[in-house]
Amino acid sequence: MLPDSFLLELKYRADIEQIVGAYVQLKRRGRNLTGLCPFHSEKTPSFTVYPESQSFYCFGCGAGGDAITFVRRAENLDYLEAVKFLADRVGLQVPEGSVDDTGHRRRLRILEMNREAARFFHSCLMSDQGRDARAYLVKRGLTKKTVTRFGLGYAPESWDTLTAYLRGKGYTEDELTDGYLGVRRKGGGVYDAFRNRIIFPIIDLRGAVIAFGGRNLGDKGPKYLNSGDTPVFKKSRNLYALNFAKSAGRGDLILAEGYMDVVAIHQGGFQNAVATLGTALTGEQARLIAQYTREVVLAYDSDEPGQIATRRATGLLEEAGVGVRVLAITGAKDPDEYIRTYGPEKFERLLEGSESAADFAITRLRQSHDLDTAEGRVAFLQEFVRLMADNPSPIQREVYLSKICRDLEVDKQAVAAQLAAAIKRKQQTARKREAGQLRAFTSAAPGARGELERQKYPRQVLAGEGVIAYLMKHPDSCAWVREQVEDQDFVSPGDRELYQAITAKLSQGHPAEVVTLSAVLSEERVGRLMEITTKDIYRDQSRTEAKEFIQVLQEYRNKKSDEELGRLEGEELGRYIASQTAHKK
Ligand code: UTP
Ligand code: MN
Repeated sequence: MLPDSFLLELKYRADIEQIVGAYVQLKRRGRNLTGLCPFHSEKTPSFTVYPESQSFYCFGCGAGGDAITFVRRAENLDYLEAVKFLADRVGLQVPEGSVDDTGHRRRLRILEMNREAARFFHSCLMSDQGRDARAYLVKRGLTKKTVTRFGLGYAPESWDTLTAYLRGKGYTEDELTDGYLGVRRKGGGVYDAFRNRIIFPIIDLRGAVIAFGGRNLGDKGPKYLNSGDTPVFKKSRNLYALNFAKSAGRGDLILAEGYMDVVAIHQGGFQNAVATLGTALTGEQARLIAQYTREVVLAYDSDEPGQIATRRATGLLEEAGVGVRVLAITGAKDPDEYIRTYGPEKFERLLEGSESAADFAITRLRQSHDLDTAEGRVAFLQEFVRLMADNPSPIQREVYLSKICRDLEVDKQAVAAQLAAAIKRKQQTARKREAGQLRAFTSAAPGARGELERQKYPRQVLAGEGVIAYLMKHPDSCAWVREQVEDQDFVSPGDRELYQAITAKLSQGHPAEVVTLSAVLSEERVGRLMEITTKDIYRDQSRTEAKEFIQVLQEYRNKKSDEELGRLEGEELGRYIASQTAHKK
C-alpha cells in the first residue's frame, strides 16, 4: 500500500484542473469547471471538475474520482502506473516496495520482450535472410533512413526463429503468447505469430514498443497481420506513428488507412500522419485525436470502401469536436501510391486544396446526380438534406443551403423545412441511442449505477447515501456514526463497501478523501462516491439531518422483507412484532 501521506502530497501537487485540462476543454462555471466527457460521447457537457476537492464527476456516465482515477482511464493505465505518471510530472518519488505490482511487472516484461523482438526483427531485415524483404522495401520507395526511423523489421519465413530467440532470452511460453508474438500449438509449445512479413513496430507516446503490424511478403495468410489486444496494447485506443506526429509541430493531423501510407507520407516530409491499427476508426481514437489537434485531414483510399470509411470517420471526429477536411486523391489508390507517383510537392498541393468534409461530400453528391433533369435534382436534394442534417454547424448548414438553392434555382424555404424536419428526426434517434448507451454502460458495471437495491429499497439507499456524504464532510463524526450504524444497515453491497472503506480510514486516524480511497476502491466505487458527494441535497447537511438518515437505517435494521414475514410462524412471528413495536417507542 502507498502511504496516505504520499497520496495527499501528490494530490496537493498535481492540480486536477491542469491535468484534466490537457484532455478536456474546460469552462469555468462558478466554483467548478465543466466540459465534454472524455469517457463517453456527449454533445452537452456533463463532465465536472471540482478544484476544491480535487476531484471530477460525469453526470452522464458516472465516471468520477481524483486525478489518479482520471489518468488511469484517460491513459489506460493501472493504478500504480497512474500514480507514477502523475508523480513524475510533479517531481515526486514513489516510495519503493509499497505496492503489490505483479500486474505492473508482467506488463514491464512484455514491453521488454517487445523491444527485444523489434530489435531482432530489424536485425533480420538487415542480415542475409532479409535480402528479399529489403528489396521489397526499396521497390516500395522507402529509404534506409525511413526504415531506421520507423524501426521496420523482417520476420523470417519460419515457425520458430523469434520464439526460439526469445526463449533463449528467458521469456516463457506464457509471456510469448500474452504478448501476441507466439501462438500456442495444439500439441504443446509455441510457434512464431509473424512469418515472412515486413514488421511495423507500434510505439506508444512514452517510446515503448507495444505491438506489431506485419505485411505479408508471400501469399499465406492475410495481407496485414496485427497484434491482438495484449496486457500492454489496446488496438482501439492507439494510433500508428502518433509518437512522431504529436510533436510534428503542425496544427493538424493527417489520418490515413494503413502503415505503408503513414510511412510514405512521413518520408515525403509530413510528420503529422497517423493511422488506425488494422481496424476502422473508433470513438476512443477520435477522442484521442481530439487531445492533439482541432483539425484532421482524412487521407483514406480513393476506392469505395475508403469513401465509406471517410464518411464514418468524419462523423466520429466531428462528434469529438475535431474539424475534418478530406483529401481528394485522384490518379492513385492511396496516399502512398500518390506520393510515389507524383511526389511530395503535389501531395502538399493536395493537402492545401483539401476541402472541408461538407464541401467534399457535396461535390461527390453533385457528380453522382444528373442535375439537368428534374428527377435528378429531386434525388440530389433529398440526399443533400440528409447530408446537411449530419452537419453539426448551423452556420455551415445555412451557407450550403443558400448556395445549393441558388445554384439549382429552387425555393429555399421548402428545402429549409425539409432540413429542419430531418434534423429533428436525427436528434430524436440520437437521444434514444445515447440513452441506450448509458443503459448498456450502467448495466455493464453492476454494483455501480444500475444497482438493483436502489430501485427496490430507495429509502434505505438514500439514507445510506446521506450517511456516507455526512462522513465525508464531517470526518470527526466518525465515532458517533459508527456507534449507531452497522455495516449491514447498508442494503446496497457497493455502498456498504464505501462505508467500510471510509470508516476504516477514519478510525485509523487517516484522512478519508477521494485520493486515499481511490487507492483501495475500484473505479466504479470511486465513481459512486463522487455521485454521492456531488449531490446538492447533501451539501450543507446538519447533524440533525444526519441523525434522521441514521434513524431510517435503524428502522429498517430489524425489519424483514414481506417474503420473509410470510414464512414466519407462531412464536417467531410474535417475537418479531414485539421487537418492531419496541423499536417504534
Ligand atoms: P490496404 O490493403 O489498403 O493496405 O489496407 P495498404 O497499406 O495499401 O497495403 P499495401 O500498400 O499493399 O502494403 C489498409 C490497412 O488495413 C489494414 C492494415 O492496417 C492496412 O495498413 N489491413 C488490411 C489489415 O489489417 N489486414 C488486411 O488483411 C488488410
Ligand atoms: Mn497501399
